[in-house]
Amino acid sequence: MHTSSKATIEVPLLDLRAQYDTLRAEIEPVVKDVIESQWFIGGPQVSGLEEEIARYCTVSHAVGCASGSDAITLALQALDVGPGDFVACPDYSFFSTAGSIWRLGARPLLVDIDPSTYNIDPDALEAALASVPRDRIKAIMPVHLFGQCCDMDRVAELATHYGVPIIEDAAQAIGSEDVHGRRAGSMGAAGCFSFFPSKNLGGFGDGGILTFNDESLAQRCARLRNHGMEPKYYHHEVGENSRLDALQAAVLRVKLRHLDDWSEGRRDNARFYDAQIAAAGGCSSRTPISESGDLPLRFPHPAEHGRHIYNQYVVRVPAKHRDGVRARMAEAKIGTEIYYPLPLHSQACFEGVELQGRGLTAATNASAETIAIPIYPDMSDDQRAHVVETLVSIVRSI
Ligand SMILES: Cc1ncc(COP(=O)(O)O)c(C=O)c1O
Repeated sequence: MHTSSKATIEVPLLDLRAQYDTLRAEIEPVVKDVIESQWFIGGPQVSGLEEEIARYCTVSHAVGCASGSDAITLALQALDVGPGDFVACPDYSFFSTAGSIWRLGARPLLVDIDPSTYNIDPDALEAALASVPRDRIKAIMPVHLFGQCCDMDRVAELATHYGVPIIEDAAQAIGSEDVHGRRAGSMGAAGCFSFFPSKNLGGFGDGGILTFNDESLAQRCARLRNHGMEPKYYHHEVGENSRLDALQAAVLRVKLRHLDDWSEGRRDNARFYDAQIAAAGGCSSRTPISESGDLPLRFPHPAEHGRHIYNQYVVRVPAKHRDGVRARMAEAKIGTEIYYPLPLHSQACFEGVELQGRGLTAATNASAETIAIPIYPDMSDDQRAHVVETLVSIVRSI
């Protein structure tokens, strides 16, 4: 265990160097093997990763691609989403959830979130879907934000009612399970994952993967990621170059062996933070911040069942204090981030575009009140205690 004095403890938001130090002996030989083979595109490392991820996500097929954003675009394209179509998605997510829809000429139908989980609010989804012409709704794309699965029962009911597929944006949620124990990426027509380095399973660069239980959809995405080509130099439709590198696949296969331990480490850190914040007088995010009790600090509300993998641990403070709390955490050498400072409907690129029918208050409030704090599994006991003690003492003094 790390035992530095409190004054010298620094905690970055994420310490990938610490992870690499524990993996160097496993990773370097497989990287060298790929270099020796000179097989950089496709090949056994990529197909091996696809098989292992399919098994891990409890689906029949997986298709590697160049990024999580491409995974979403490929899934939308394979489901024939195009100009004039609406795809419902939450207003509070990383940009590419909506950006991928937009890039195909379709419209994101932005839906408010449940303020206690930050995931799409099924009641708001129902209202949003009823607000646009039925024949233009093409898909529903819930996001399992921060690593916690959405209420997929309600989303599935609505998808069945409208006769449209679900595309899961599971970029942050590999290994997460819903209340019934179903894995993220196994509950819709397609699951979209990112291997961006900060994800629980992160590569040494960009990468992504799609998961399916439908072989023909998997085959179409596999073709689309390679220029719509099959066989070589015969193009049935216009796809793109979105292949996953063999070097990335080799690194990811090593890391996949450790993923469950890392996610358990994050869950353990989260339980520790929850307990410390509750003991200091804070509540879970289920309690509105306006009803602040002893301490105006909210820890993320985990569903009673299911498996949250805490890609991010996001707390809430009153909006007027958020940036000040963050600045004081930085002075104490503790890394934080705002995920996300603007709801999607407020992004400049969507200015003047009608993207929703109802208010998006919960998403707007979350953008003003949330702060992500370090949760990575390699944190020492001293580091995590220092993070939460510092946070509580800063919030107490506001
Ligand atoms: C919710 C969500 N969707 C999509 C993406 C896009 O993934 P990538 O960065 O690999 O393109 C991310 C990654 O940051 C994400 O967090």
